[in-house]
Amino acid sequence: MPTVDNPTEKTLAELGVNDAQGVAEKFAEVRARFDRQVALEADEIRKLMLQEAWLGSDSDPVTSLRNFWVGRKTGVLTLITENWLKKSPSSLKGVIGKQFNELKGHIETKLEEQRKRIEEKTEAAALTREQVDLSLPGVIRPIGSHHLIRQVFQEIEDIFFSIGFSVVEGPEIETPYYNFEALNIPEFHPVRDDMDTFYLDLPKGASTPLLLRTHTSPMQIRTMEKQKPPVRVIVPGKVYRRDNPDATHSFAFHQIEGLAVDTDITFCDFTGTIEYFVKQFFGPSVKTRFRPSYFPFTEPSVEFDVSCPFCGGTGTAAAGGTCTKCKGAAWIELFGAGMVDPAVYGFVNYDAKKVSGFAFGIGIDRLAMLKYSIDDIQVFFQNDVRFLSQFP
Ligand code: PHE
Repeated sequence: MPTVDNPTEKTLAELGVNDAQGVAEKFAEVRARFDRQVALEADEIRKLMLQEAWLGSDSDPVTSLRNFWVGRKTGVLTLITENWLKKSPSSLKGVIGKQFNELKGHIETKLEEQRKRIEEKTEAAALTREQVDLSLPGVIRPIGSHHLIRQVFQEIEDIFFSIGFSVVEGPEIETPYYNFEALNIPEFHPVRDDMDTFYLDLPKGASTPLLLRTHTSPMQIRTMEKQKPPVRVIVPGKVYRRDNPDATHSFAFHQIEGLAVDTDITFCDFTGTIEYFVKQFFGPSVKTRFRPSYFPFTEPSVEFDVSCPFCGGTGTAAAGGTCTKCKGAAWIELFGAGMVDPAVYGFVNYDAKKVSGFAFGIGIDRLAMLKYSIDDIQVFFQNDVRFLSQFP
């Protein structure tokens, strides 16, 4: 390995110096070498380090240079003190001391200058790198919007929030117990046939069959299991049935379940709440009516209708002729509901003698189609931007 002698590792006597003149010459040599090195760029220093092994081998050449000159243990300045100053005859000590102080001051100043120079350079480089051209056109990221179904969910949630309901959500994969039994629909009950159901393929020996929930009503049970009355919740979510797809049927659709249970809830509270909701959603001029219906988990059960918001409940279109929305019936069927069947309370350890309540299950897709004049439920699932962007 090529090495260059470091004179400061020897004493002045060993270097053949024994007068002031010689001392001055040696110091001048050292200083000249320092001046050459400190003026170098980092990669030049690195090259020099390879040639002159005594420069050190720190991975950062600038640090290496600095250590070589002012390092506490073996830096040149320390070596001069040890080898030149301390080991010289006292007659020369004055001259050496003076030269040493000058050299030391010089080295420190120059190293500081070098440090600043490098710092400024790195900063300037960073600035160029990070320069921003404010005159360039921006990147336009088109902001999407909520799907119409989500918007309708939100609209309905807001209406029910305003009268003290809160939102809960539940699993889309359910057990028959929650989807049927606890809702008073025993196995082999004929209404199960209305809900042709997707069952999951499970390994043999699974503890319970699983199915995609056919309605959001299982959350009635899950909510009451967790919570004592008063209960006032709505449950937005997806539900699944083995319906053949057509303009009004889809194997997946959306519902909002509602449930209110307390010690003093009457049929009047029930109809009042529904009427409030319908008027908020369709406008104050619509009328509501209910017809008897049947659900195993409500008693009595009703089907809620709204006077057709499109023809003003006349059955006749504004332009004359039969209203196409209600097909001349003047009423539109909205959703099923009812007072919670006391049998259901038995499944959740509520005292059927003390509590009463009502429940409803609103089909969101149907409501959205009515309100926004959409004639095919399939468009909700096709993700065609031309459709979606009509509801920003
Ligand atoms: N779960 C019923 C359905 O999907 C709707 C419903 C909910 C009826 C709550 C009554 C009470 O058809």
